[in-house]
Amino acid sequence: MKKIVISFLLLSSFIWAQNFQVGKNGAVASASKQASDVGIEVLKNGGNAVDAAIAVGFALAVVYPPAGNIGGGGFMLICSPEGEVTAIDFREKASRSARRDMYLDESGNPVDGWSTEGALAVGVPGSVAGYEYALQHYGSMKWNELLAPAIKLAEDGFPVSYYIHEGLRDHQKLMRRFPASVEMFYQNDSVPDIGDTLRFSDLAVTLKRIAKQGAGEFYRGRTAKRLVKAVRDNGGIIDLWDLQHYEVKERKPIRFTYRGYDIFSMPLPSSGGICLAQILKVVEQFPLAEYGFQALQSIRIITEAERRAYANRAHYLGDPDFISVPVDYLLSDELIRAMAKSIDLTKATPSCEVDHAPLPKSEETTHFSVVDKDGWAVAVTTTLNSAYGSGFVAGKTGILLNNEMDDFSIKTGMPNMYGLVGAEANAIQPQKRMLSSMTPTIVCRNDSLMWVLGTPGGGTIITTVVQVLINMIDYNMTLVQAVDAPRFHHQWLPDVIFAEKYSFSPDLIDLLQAKGYTIRKRSSIGDVNAIAVDRDNKYYIAVPDKRRQSAASVY
Ligand code: GLY
Repeated sequence: MKKIVISFLLLSSFIWAQNFQVGKNGAVASASKQASDVGIEVLKNGGNAVDAAIAVGFALAVVYPPAGNIGGGGFMLICSPEGEVTAIDFREKASRSARRDMYLDESGNPVDGWSTEGALAVGVPGSVAGYEYALQHYGSMKWNELLAPAIKLAEDGFPVSYYIHEGLRDHQKLMRRFPASVEMFYQNDSVPDIGDTLRFSDLAVTLKRIAKQGAGEFYRGRTAKRLVKAVRDNGGIIDLWDLQHYEVKERKPIRFTYRGYDIFSMPLPSSGGICLAQILKVVEQFPLAEYGFQALQSIRIITEAERRAYANRAHYLGDPDFISVPVDYLLSDELIRAMAKSIDLTKATPSCEVDHAPLPKSEETTHFSVVDKDGWAVAVTTTLNSAYGSGFVAGKTGILLNNEMDDFSIKTGMPNMYGLVGAEANAIQPQKRMLSSMTPTIVCRNDSLMWVLGTPGGGTIITTVVQVLINMIDYNMTLVQAVDAPRFHHQWLPDVIFAEKYSFSPDLIDLLQAKGYTIRKRSSIGDVNAIAVDRDNKYYIAVPDKRRQSAASVY
C-alpha cells in the first residue's frame, strides 16, 4: 500500500511539474524546469523579459542539449510594453566556402549523412551574437550576470531526465563517431542514467570566457580559433572569416489579423510567419467554429490550407538577403481568396504523385516564452536542427554544433530530413541563411498582449502554432486545453495527413479516407511553450506542453 501511495505521489508530482503555473509578476515556459527557474531569478533580480530570455537561452545550452545551444541559431520576437514588436534573426549561415552541390555525389544525388552528420553539416552559429544583440538593444542587465547561471549549471551539473536519457541513448551511434562528443555526453563511456548528474566542464570554461569577453570571444577569440580548428580537422568548411563576419539582423515581423486578433510572427529567413499568415487567412474564410473541433470539415479545410501554404513555401521562400521574395503578393487578399476558392469542399486535392520519405522522429528545436511585470514579452525559438544537431562537439570547447545546412534545399525537389522540399529560392549559396520553419509568435487584441507562443518540430512547427491559435480563437479553448489538444499536420509533400496517435477516431479516419486523404499516425507533434495574459492583465499563465519535459516557472 505504502509503495502505491509513494508511486502515486511521485507520478502526480511529475505531472504537476509539467503543468501550467500562474504568476503575477512574470512567467517563463521552456523545455526545462532548471532553465525556467533561471529566467524567473533574473526577473526577480530586476531584469526584464529580454534579460530573462537570454539567461534561459544560455541555461538551455547546458541543461537541454538536444536543442538548447550556443552552437546553433534561432529567432527572437520582442514585444515592448507599448506594443512595438521587433524580430531578431540569429539564424545560422552557410560558410563562404559552401557550394550549391556540396552534398551531392558525382551523379548529382545527395549523399546520405553529409548535410546532417558531423562537421560538414554545420552552419555558422548565430546564438551568441543574437543574445548579445538583444541585450545591447533591449536588455538591462550585465552580460556576465546572464551567463552566470548557465556556468553554474555546467560546473555543478544537473540531473538527467528521462527525455535526455532517451535522446542520448538513441543518438549514441552518431555521437560516438566524435571523441569530444563521447567525452562530453558519455562520461564513463556509458549512456547517463535517469537521475545521474551530467557536468560539462569544457563548456563551463568556454562560457566563462564568453561571459568575460563578450560575444567577440566566440566569433574572433580563442573559442573561435578552437571551434574552427575542430571543424576543419573533421572535414568541415567553416573558417575564421565566416565567424568574424557573422551578423545579426533585426527585421520587421510579419503582422496580420485573424478574426480580430493581431498576430506577429517571424519573417524570412523563417517561413514561419508567412505560412502561419497564409494558413490562418485561408481558414478565416470558413466557419470553423460552426464546423467544430475535430469535425471532418474543419480538418479538411485546415489541411487544404496547409497543403497550399507549404507548396508556396517550397517554391518561393528563402533568404531575403539573397533572393527576391514576393511577400506582399503571398499575403495579398487576392492570393488568399484564390487559395481558399481552390479548395474543393467535397474531396481532397492531391498534392502530386511522388511519394517522399516519412518524417523522422528526431526533429528538434526548442521554444521558450517569457513575460515580465512591465509588459515586455519575448518569444524565442532556437535550434541545432535535429536532436543533438550534427552530433559533433568542437574539441575542447564543449560546443555541440548544429546540422542546419540540411535546412537548405540541397537538390531541387529532394526532401530534407523533415520531408520538406525546396527549390531555387532555398538553394545553397555562400553566406546565405537557410530557410527555417521556426514560428515564435506574439498575439495582441485591442493593443493588449494576449499570448506568447512557439514550438519545436521541424516542418510541423508552423501547423502546431496554427492549431493552438485556432483552438483558442475558433473553438474557444483555454490555452491549457489548446496546447493539450491532439495535433495533425500536412505539408503539401508527402501528400499525407500526419496525425498524433490518438488524435483521430476510427470513424473520422474512415470519413477522411473516403474524401481522398491518406492518414499516417506518428509520434507526438511539437512541444509548445506558451504564456497567456489574463484578460484583466492581472495574471500570467505559463503553459508548458506535456509531450516532452517542458516546465514553467512564475512569480
Ligand atoms: N531547423 C528547423 C527549422 O529551422 O525550421
